[in-house]
Amino acid sequence: MKELFEKNVEWAEAVKKNDPTFFEQLSKQQAPEYLWIGCSDSRVPANEIVGLMPGELFVHRNVANMVVHSDLNCLSVIQYAVEYLQVKHVIVCGHYGCGGVRASVERKRLGLIDNWLLNVQDVQYIHQAYPSDDGDKTDIVNQVCELNVVEQVVNVCKTNIIKDAWMRGQDLTVHGWIYSIADGLLKDLGVNITHLEDMRPKYHQAIEDINQRYV
Ligand code: CO
Repeated sequence: MKELFEKNVEWAEAVKKNDPTFFEQLSKQQAPEYLWIGCSDSRVPANEIVGLMPGELFVHRNVANMVVHSDLNCLSVIQYAVEYLQVKHVIVCGHYGCGGVRASVERKRLGLIDNWLLNVQDVQYIHQAYPSDDGDKTDIVNQVCELNVVEQVVNVCKTNIIKDAWMRGQDLTVHGWIYSIADGLLKDLGVNITHLEDMRPKYHQAIEDINQRYV
């Protein structure tokens, strides 16, 4: 643990060297333009991936980047970000090879988390995305990772928080991205939704594109 505190001091000093008033300014307020909803996976650090500093990204992470309508934690983050911080973009970001998605695809029994991952199994059911018998599950896992992002984008858009924001005329776009741990790059899955009317057509197009890529 000592090492972590030492690294913390080094980091704070490096930031201050670059901008002596950085922490002083930041302590007064936060005004991030983005809400990031991502996976808890240690290989997908939200700020680093998009090169943003503290103060620039509001973050919610859970296993398999889910937006579940009964999850008060996630909903509270979305509400606060949209209504009080007035973020302009909500980004749902999945990643290839997600352990949560893999566990769902492989029907693994891991304990308490199985209940959470039933939400991923729902995504599989909706799209009838199941492994074939040939053994290698890499493609189906990655396909479900992409399908899951699109489903979670729609789950964000369906909340009254987002619908009300759009009704008020708030400038707000919901995005679906996927990150590749293998090369560090993000891909936009084409579900960029700025109005409720966009939701269905963009959803269906994105799902069609994904399913075509994995034929
Ligand atoms: Co993951």
